[in-house]
Amino acid sequence: MDATPGRIVGGDPSDQGEWPYYTLINGCGGSLIAPRVILTAAHCKPQKDINKKVIIGPTKRKDLDNGPFQMAEKRRIKKAIPHPNYKKKTLANDYALILLDKEYIIESTIKLVLNEDPNFPPAAGEVLDVLGMGTLSSGGDVADVLMDVKVESFSNSQCNSYFGGNPMKDSMICAGLEEGGKDSCQGDSGGPLVKVIGNTHTQVGISSWGYGCADEKSPGVYSRVSEEINWMKKVICDEWNVEFYLCGQTPPTPPAPTPAPIMSPTPPTPLSFEKLGKGYPRDSKGKFNKNNWDTKNHCVDFTACQDKCKAQDQCVGIAWASTPKVADDTGCRAQSLPRCVVYYGVTAQTVAVEEASGDPKEFRAYRYGAPVDPTVCADSESFKWKGVTKKNCTWVANQKENENNNVCKKWAKKTGIKKVKDFCKKTCGKC
Ligand code: ARG
Repeated sequence: MDATPGRIVGGDPSDQGEWPYYTLINGCGGSLIAPRVILTAAHCKPQKDINKKVIIGPTKRKDLDNGPFQMAEKRRIKKAIPHPNYKKKTLANDYALILLDKEYIIESTIKLVLNEDPNFPPAAGEVLDVLGMGTLSSGGDVADVLMDVKVESFSNSQCNSYFGGNPMKDSMICAGLEEGGKDSCQGDSGGPLVKVIGNTHTQVGISSWGYGCADEKSPGVYSRVSEEINWMKKVICDEWNVEFYLCGQTPPTPPAPTPAPIMSPTPPTPLSFEKLGKGYPRDSKGKFNKNNWDTKNHCVDFTACQDKCKAQDQCVGIAWASTPKVADDTGCRAQSLPRCVVYYGVTAQTVAVEEASGDPKEFRAYRYGAPVDPTVCADSESFKWKGVTKKNCTWVANQKENENNNVCKKWAKKTGIKKVKDFCKKTCGKC
């Protein structure tokens, strides 16, 4: 079979929302491995594309719409670093990292993690998926939809014996079919090679090179992700200092002196309004949900606004605007200020805040919830989480970190705490 040069060979068009982290870069692919970080191949030379746009999450090349799934979005390349030991000649260490101008938070149950296990995938036969939007033929059209193809892992020695001349380095892994017919190809470089298990996609490789495409006994070659996790951590955590689930926690704090056990049940703490900042309350998914708003409370003061919320057990937050747009606006009509918007979490249990984009911009949002009291989170015999008594604070915080909870992340960011873990320790996992 003659491989069509320049596209994923033998693959299928992917479904919307299937690969939410796939990223389209100028002539290459990539994967969003942290809210502001793309992993790609060094030979794609992203450092030459500073300020150029990438598209995160596309299913189609020319359309950001993903139907019921999160829209694809454009971001700009702010910084890019190829691996310091990348060798142009041999393509050893064909890894590069891109820092985006702005984060993109994936709203999906599908989670991309990096493979840290040097013994995975096994020598032979693990089924993996490669993603790409390579061009259709040299000088011709580009694939207009994201393609994925299932290939099998091979050992490096097997590939060396196919190829001859030992081109396989430790930083590489190869995958394909012995009989050929399925492969990545030009234009797919930088894109991810993943192992899908349920909703967890483990990235094991980055499309790098091959002799031809999809030929028999000639698997595609990928950069081996597990080999350079430490380099990635160094760049993302230490140099760029941005959020990444693999950034180690700050060194464990020495155990605090054990507080005296609280023997008597503590009275329930009254709820309070926590200042979230300037903006509109959103639901826990960060979405504006029109039906959850009560906007008719114009011309009320802040206390009255809070009372409206307190009187409703579904209220999870308010937004209050104080300064009248027009000095003599005392008519108390809808749109008059001061104005109170009460947010009901009928479906969404919590409220987040997002910067007001429309008019008026002067809303201040408050979350109505339990006060953040660090002592509440002190591990004690009475500490409960989701009704379970024995879990301690750190456990809860770790749980939240692992859930990859986007709302948590946004809140943590707003409060200036970098890690969801640390934030959750403060809020006792309430985010
Ligand atoms: N070097 C190619 C690119 O820049 C990827 C080639 C992959 N080849 C293969 N047979 N798997 O897009």
